[in-house]
Amino acid sequence: MQAGTEKRGNVYYSDEIIEEVRTRNDIVDVIGASVKLKKSGSSYVGLCPFHNEKSPSFSVSGQKQMYHCFGCGAGGNVITFVMNYENYTFQEALKFLADRAGISLPEEEDSQQNRERRNKRDLLLQVNKDAANYFYVQLRSERGRQGYEYLSGRALTDETIRHFGLGYSNKTAADLAAYLRQKGYSDELLVEAGLCTHDERFGFHDKFWNRVMFPIQDVNHRVIGFGGRVMGDGKPKYLNSPETPVFDKSRNLYGLNFARTSRAGNFILCEGYMDVIAMHQAGFTQAVASLGTAFTSGQASLIRRYVDEVLLAYDSDGAGVNAALRAIGILKEAGLSGRVINMEPHKDPDEFIKAEGRDAFAERIKKAEDGFLFEIRILRRGFDVEDPAQKTKFEMELARRLSQIENEIERENYLTVTAREYYIDPEILRRMVKSLAAAGAQVKPVERPKTASGKKQTAEDNRKKTQRMLLTWITDEPEIYDKIKKYIQAADFTDELYSRVAGLLFDELEAGRCDPAGIISKFEDEEEQRRVAALFHTRLPGIDNEAQKEKALHDIVCAVKQYSYEYYAQRQGTDLNALQQVIASKQALEELLRAHIL
Ligand code: GTP
Ligand code: MN
Repeated sequence: MQAGTEKRGNVYYSDEIIEEVRTRNDIVDVIGASVKLKKSGSSYVGLCPFHNEKSPSFSVSGQKQMYHCFGCGAGGNVITFVMNYENYTFQEALKFLADRAGISLPEEEDSQQNRERRNKRDLLLQVNKDAANYFYVQLRSERGRQGYEYLSGRALTDETIRHFGLGYSNKTAADLAAYLRQKGYSDELLVEAGLCTHDERFGFHDKFWNRVMFPIQDVNHRVIGFGGRVMGDGKPKYLNSPETPVFDKSRNLYGLNFARTSRAGNFILCEGYMDVIAMHQAGFTQAVASLGTAFTSGQASLIRRYVDEVLLAYDSDGAGVNAALRAIGILKEAGLSGRVINMEPHKDPDEFIKAEGRDAFAERIKKAEDGFLFEIRILRRGFDVEDPAQKTKFEMELARRLSQIENEIERENYLTVTAREYYIDPEILRRMVKSLAAAGAQVKPVERPKTASGKKQTAEDNRKKTQRMLLTWITDEPEIYDKIKKYIQAADFTDELYSRVAGLLFDELEAGRCDPAGIISKFEDEEEQRRVAALFHTRLPGIDNEAQKEKALHDIVCAVKQYSYEYYAQRQGTDLNALQQVIASKQALEELLRAHIL
């Protein structure tokens, strides 16, 4: 959908002001403030902040004022970057960038009418905030006394309860709904926010009742969902909000809004909300937890923006150990180092702190076990090493894991330590590891990003790629537009989105401008914005001299024209414009084949 009217920011801010904010914030400066960028040719490269990677495929172009990741396909202009990186809405990103550039935006008022027009994300954030306030007030009223006593009974101070915005949902099953309706929210929105549900037995009612409420905040302190705990032993123990457009459980962490400014240099990853709260209360403000689901790689890449070491404070039971093993794998994939805090003899950090206090916990942090050594220790538990056959199996598996460590010094260090720990002759272990590493190197699959490049290229993919190359080339060297415009029109781009972008770009070039990043702002849908950014970031053939350049460009232009001709030829029966296109293309092609473009 094309913006400019309705929806999104443009209702409040004109296209002119949006463009001013965008052009006054250099994308290299803005992204460079959060991602380490290195100059490479005419642009900059770095590790993509939107997926886990070890070698840089994230490219930022100062000339085009855009970014694009060749690995995961993320892309856009400076506004979309701030939206995605900070998890901001369009309005918030615009405000952030306006402040940064010293531009004052016209005030927007929060009238009923404005609220109706505001986009879905804004509305969901607003309704969550109102709900959190409501729960917060209930906890402090007579009706919420039981909730308050429950939390105090778990040794939380007033200050902590306030800091985390804890609340209480009343025993009656529809008073939140009544409160929010009276504030003007529609029933549909309450359902979409996961605050209310509809069923045959109870009709329309609150999702949470008679629970202490944990508002879940994103990194910018905005409430994006809730966890609600029964006060006692009822089931289910926790009820969590469902995923919504603002609540992505795999890309947020409980407590991150506070942990991000802790100066500990590491994060402590816990399993539960109560653990995080207890840890913060004890002064460990670097504690975070996943959101009622297993730890994900999205959360690992979020963490990597702030620290490079994670200490696991998972439950000491079997489930906790398995969860820790999985988390270590995910951390390693993300290039983070993981260590494991021993909670014994207590169950979890909350209980540990209550029983032994903060100094004892600080000691445990210091003694946290290296992730690899933890994995090996757990592995060893599965074998009876008194039995030679089992001992061999354990040692083979250890050797296999050692052989997967790429860095030689690191591998040697782990080898020395484990050999000593498990009474294995280091020389023999070293030989085993070497031969495994050599065998492994031959079969090791090449590391590939998960996107398009993994799939087989079809003829259609190739056509589109050629069209993208032409658009990229034109934005790299706007001068060539004058040379090719007699052969190529927007309609030659057979993908609907490509041809729209080409139309906008050619209009600009006719007016003597070339501003691809501005074109992105004209697309509202995030997926479209990514695709538009990709259009302007296609890899071009390497070129050494003018003759090669002429040939490469000639080939691309001919190919685009040829596809266009075939495309419209197939549609002659059904599309009235097709015939004209076919005739025009045929002529242009004949001319092209004889012509020199440059
Ligand atoms: P307390 O038992 O009150 O100390 O809470 P906790 O935070 O320590 O919870 P626990 O270790 O049992 O569980 C860890 C996390 O898993 C919780 O914070 C929740 O996010 C989630 N969780 C626990 N029980 C449930 C449940 O019954 N349903 C769902 N959906 N999530 C749960
Ligand atoms: Mn607990």
